[in-house]
Amino acid sequence: MNVLILGSGGREHALAWKIAQSPKLKKLFVAPGNAGTLGCATNIQLNTEDFQAVKKVVVENSIELVVVGPEVPLVAGIHDFFLSESVLRNITVIGPTLNGAMLEGSKDFAKKFMVKYNIPTAAYSSFTADSLNEGLAFLTKLNPPYVLKADGLAAGKGVLILDKMTEAQSELKEMLSGKFGKAGNTVVIEEFLSGIECSVFVLTDGKDYLILPEAKDYKRIGEGDTGLNTGGMGAVSPVPFADKEFMDKVEKRIVIPTIEGLKKEGIAYKGFIFLGLIKVNGEPMVIEYNARMGDPETEVVMPRIKNDFLEVLIACGKGELKGQNIITDERAVCTIMMVAGGYPGEYKKGDRISGLDAISDSIVFHAGTKLSGNEVVTNGGRVLAVSSYGKNLAEALEKSKMNVEKIVFEGRNWRRDIGYEFL
Ligand code: AMP
Ligand code: GLY
Repeated sequence: MNVLILGSGGREHALAWKIAQSPKLKKLFVAPGNAGTLGCATNIQLNTEDFQAVKKVVVENSIELVVVGPEVPLVAGIHDFFLSESVLRNITVIGPTLNGAMLEGSKDFAKKFMVKYNIPTAAYSSFTADSLNEGLAFLTKLNPPYVLKADGLAAGKGVLILDKMTEAQSELKEMLSGKFGKAGNTVVIEEFLSGIECSVFVLTDGKDYLILPEAKDYKRIGEGDTGLNTGGMGAVSPVPFADKEFMDKVEKRIVIPTIEGLKKEGIAYKGFIFLGLIKVNGEPMVIEYNARMGDPETEVVMPRIKNDFLEVLIACGKGELKGQNIITDERAVCTIMMVAGGYPGEYKKGDRISGLDAISDSIVFHAGTKLSGNEVVTNGGRVLAVSSYGKNLAEALEKSKMNVEKIVFEGRNWRRDIGYEFL
């Protein structure tokens, strides 16, 4: 079968790397892809929100299955577009329709859904410009720190955690007067939860589900989890505190009620559900849902799946996940993200990357790279994810660190302490 992956990051390279190993694959395309996906697929330049361009690529290349990597095309309704076009209607899209993508596209929707289906999450209230005064009063009743979330997609920047009530009140005013554009028309204010976070990934066909290996990502730019938030500086899998007892609770209290809730809402969800979890006093609670895989989590999750993942995705498309399972590699995997100097602030693009040929015993997933002539150059803030296996996390980490040292580009930066709490 011919497969198209939409997106251009490390997540999409890791998905491509895994799908390329399937005997069921005929041709693999990634759009727009990066210099790394060229090694296992054909890249096609397009804007993933230009659905007519996607349609053209799908028809011209006889694509039968599309995996949507990032959230933006999902929340723009790409799956609904496929269903509305006669030539695309029978093509499998891995990624929910708009109503399901709202689990990520609207924090207010996600919170209402969790409350309705008794899924453990922080207590909250939502406010709009019309209820600003109620929102300001609500803040006075909470204990610090204060958690404010723009309802809509805000490229990972829509969550503010503030220590002072006066600060929280002035941020609420700013958010409700357009600081995040339309995404902030509604603001969710929620109780602050204290605990350790991890990510659990579920693949569902709308009836049944598979739980993929769990992961933990490291979002802050600085070692010891300090400094600004980024898209993710590294990840590990497995997560030692996500033991059998914890994962059983996740399945019973979160995964099953989520799948059942989607069914009751009449949402035919086909795709990934990313559970952003926090362990509070031993109990799992949901911080957020995403309607896609995580990045850089995918760069550790895909290497830990031993079976044919395309076969699993095909079964998902047919609504036949029930007969499938995930065979997990016992080894640990860690990934270290190499980023451009200045990231997550301003950074340069177009710097030559050298040393990629010297890598041994790691998999280099490209994130922000492109080919310029014969050279691989930087093309984004997160540049490369260096993933390694080990008999434990410490060994996996050592291999990634050793290989990261060999890859050189101007201003390169990375965290040396990925997985530090577990070593
Ligand atoms: P989100 O975009 O909802 O995942 O939020 C970004 C980050 O903010 C999360 O990964 C958490 O670290 C933090 N966060 C969000 N909500 C809460 C909460 N209720 N309590 C504590 N931390 C939170
Ligand atoms: N690594 C977090 C995310 O993909 O949203």
